[in-house]
Amino acid sequence: MEYNFISRLNHWVAAIAMIGMLLFGLYLEYGDLAREARRPLIGIHRSIGVVVLIFGIWRVSWRIMQGFPTPVADMPRWQFRLSKGVHWSLLAGILIMPLSGIGFTVFRGRDVDVFGWFSIPGAAEIPWIVSLSSVLHQYVGLGLCAIVVLHIAAALKHHLVDRDPTLRRMISGRALKTGTAPSDTP
Ligand code: HEM
Ligand code: HEM
Repeated sequence: MEYNFISRLNHWVAAIAMIGMLLFGLYLEYGDLAREARRPLIGIHRSIGVVVLIFGIWRVSWRIMQGFPTPVADMPRWQFRLSKGVHWSLLAGILIMPLSGIGFTVFRGRDVDVFGWFSIPGAAEIPWIVSLSSVLHQYVGLGLCAIVVLHIAAALKHHLVDRDPTLRRMISGRALKTGTAPSDTP
């Protein structure tokens, strides 16, 4: 089994969205931002986050329904296990990040307005959900940054050092057809 077109599209859309949102979040938290400038940016961060959640539910369900294709590279067992752990952590992160963001906003009694299209109404305050969600948002966010770096380093290592088709099959879908086109092609 290979990564079909929908799997590849799902992977790259979620990858761009997650890398963008992790950097956006770090900028909100640690960037040198004035209070007035921060407020509208948080609104955009929240709105994109809710859209990521809707897309993420589809993306993660699709992977669970399809299963993971077998790796194209020969690797030791520890590496296979590590890659499985990384892939499952990334999938979990796609859901945990927006859910925790919504959790610490909504259960503090605040609405989450999504680009003015619709709004998730604030609920009665539940302090333990607010604290848990905010710890998750912060630490899962930082953990994901490290895991994404490891994931990208692994993809580059397969491509540049081992020169196997791992990255190519996530880009073009063609893992096994690595030869050149037949010379008698018209
Ligand atoms: C793909 C989804 C999301 C990602 C990857 C993400 C990532 C992050 C990261 C990495 C931070 C910095 C955390 C830190 O180090 O303290 C952050 C901060 C923040 N995020 Fe998100 N976020 C997402 C969705 C959301 C959603 C849906 C909301 C609210 C509805 C939200 C609300 C916030 C707020 C208010 C902050 C500022 C820090 C704070 O006040 O605690 N995020 N985000
Ligand atoms: C430049 C950034 C990235 C590159 C080059 C990249 C590359 C790859 C490659 C080559 C695979 C296939 C691995 C295999 O066949 O065993 C893969 C799988 C995967 N990647 Fe990435 N990736 C990137 C960013 C991300 C990000 C940011 C996420 C999630 C937050 C992510 C989540 C996943 C997941 C969950 C899989 C397992 C298969 C699937 O469900 O799509 N990737 N990635």
